[in-house]
Amino acid sequence: KLEKIWLTLGGIMLAAFLIVLTINAFAMGNTPPSDLQQIDPTKVDQTPPFDKPGLVKISDNEYDLNMIGYAFGYTPAQVEIPKGATVHFHVTSRDVMHGFEIAGTDVNMMLTPGLVNSSTKTFNESGTYLILCNEYCGAGHQLMAAHLVVK
Ligand code: CUA
Repeated sequence: KLEKIWLTLGGIMLAAFLIVLTINAFAMGNTPPSDLQQIDPTKVDQTPPFDKPGLVKISDNEYDLNMIGYAFGYTPAQVEIPKGATVHFHVTSRDVMHGFEIAGTDVNMMLTPGLVNSSTKTFNESGTYLILCNEYCGAGHQLMAAHLVVK
């Protein structure tokens, strides 16, 4: 019967999708890229450079900015940089998954507990940039923000 053939074909397709999904989940997903630093999330506050979060000058108008995301905010909550500064953001979370998006820029990272994510941006326009969490992280999610002031 024709119906039986179609039913069998459908079953084979379904099985194939499930296999692909399983391979994806186990072989590729959940395994962070190995070049990212992994810290025990409960020890983020004691692990350099996050034991002293904030701005570190590395050369002329170039900075490392080490930040921690937590429920519900960022440390430090406000950072001031000179106009034209290149900033290397190194950000992690000490509790749950958070987001790190600088509104109006292409900086957009996901913060996985203890995993240090990085992004670089040069700020040629002065103003106050809003850093916000774009990953739902609990009751205070919408309150989670920081400010980057470019002067
Ligand atoms: Cu942190 Cu939403």
